[in-house]
Amino acid sequence: MRRPRAARRLPRACILDASHAPAAPLSASASGPLTGRVRPPGDKSVSHRCMIFGLLALGETTIEGLLEGEDVLRTAQAARQLGAKVTRHAPGSWSVWGAGLGSLLQPTETLDFGNAGTGSRLMMGVIAGHPIVARFDGDASLRKRPMKRILDPLALQGAQVLEQAEGGRLPLVLQGSAEPLPVEYRTPVASAQIKSAVLLCGLNSPGRTVVIEAEASRDHTEKMLAHFGAKVKSEPYGAHGRKITLEGRPELVARPVRVPADPSSAAFPLVAALITPGSDIVVEGVMTNPLRSGLLTTLQEMGADITLDNRRDEGGEDVADVRARFSSLTGVDVPAERAPSMIDEYPILAVAAAFATGQTRMRGLSELRVKESDRLAAIAAGLTVNGVDCEIVGDDLIVRGGPVRGGGTVETHLDHRIAMSFLVMGLAAQQAVTVDDETMIATSFPTFRALMEGLGARFS
Ligand code: S3P
Repeated sequence: MRRPRAARRLPRACILDASHAPAAPLSASASGPLTGRVRPPGDKSVSHRCMIFGLLALGETTIEGLLEGEDVLRTAQAARQLGAKVTRHAPGSWSVWGAGLGSLLQPTETLDFGNAGTGSRLMMGVIAGHPIVARFDGDASLRKRPMKRILDPLALQGAQVLEQAEGGRLPLVLQGSAEPLPVEYRTPVASAQIKSAVLLCGLNSPGRTVVIEAEASRDHTEKMLAHFGAKVKSEPYGAHGRKITLEGRPELVARPVRVPADPSSAAFPLVAALITPGSDIVVEGVMTNPLRSGLLTTLQEMGADITLDNRRDEGGEDVADVRARFSSLTGVDVPAERAPSMIDEYPILAVAAAFATGQTRMRGLSELRVKESDRLAAIAAGLTVNGVDCEIVGDDLIVRGGPVRGGGTVETHLDHRIAMSFLVMGLAAQQAVTVDDETMIATSFPTFRALMEGLGARFS
């Protein structure tokens, strides 16, 4: 076991801080056909993990196509505070010199994750597996999100929560363990964040860590563990689940990573094209990992004219150029078991459903209540204020589509995906749609406005 190096003070990187910027309303209005080819920024999940694996590996991890959204910049800053040397060479092109597994620095300042649930939760797993103490904090949205789901398994592995806000929330202080215990953990909900936190803690365990999930969640952590040289096995478990087994204390070796375009960001121009008459666009290099592709499946079931061309492998992920043309959509029933593969896409699916003929029922959305906002409530409120007939029944959202009046102002509750979804709605509604604050879009898709305007979208 390598000992942690002595604490030292690190300079804070320059982070644009959307959470403290004044709210900036933005409106979208009926636009002509959207046309052109675009490439959205790199995948957020993979980008966070590049920083974390870069920190834990020995040597220089080079990254191409990194998402330079604020969430990822927060994780990069936390990696610096823990001893990594993180350098930006050109747009999207970064390198991380790792501190190495077992050799992280004791941070001298709070790890402030802003709006980033993924960054904070995965980093809790990292800290839990090291003999250091770290204080975690975030913006008003992140302070509302449940952390107990992460802290419970980490406590089984030997970490201790020294301080926490009521209900297991941020700000909190976590004391990690020098010898994390090997555990077998069944995740109570399908969550890649819980799974990843347990595996990242288990990396520094002298034994074997097993995570069992009843519904498979995104597998970027497992793929990256293998890419960086860990011994990890993922096998089917039950009808829809996975069992992941990780051998502790591998020598993680720095590797190059190429980040594919984020399917959760690609979803916005794709749905915009489907609902805006005459549109025909191509979104290039989109990750088509089946554990992230539930939205494409659902849209195709709704009758969307979507085709995947030029399928290829980029950095170990399946990618394709996705073409979407204006389509007349029909409502569908979206099964609950599809939720993990499109968990971040329900706001934009609800917008597509608002323009479809007939009813769309999206089942099993309880996890939406604990995202950047209570997304279930935020979606329903945004639809209603724009004249769309919808209701929440238990954990299901029902949307009855047709021509969309628009004309409403949507409360975004510091939630980037609520902001982008309702701006897309405005492009095809009869009256303009306004969001109360567009600043949070920078957390995941800083180029959203320019990219959409390049296709012909009208914002003011
Ligand atoms: C993510 C997992 C998902 C998703 C989030 C990114 C990840 O959260 O909503 O945007 O990168 O692991 P849950 O694991 O809580 O479902």
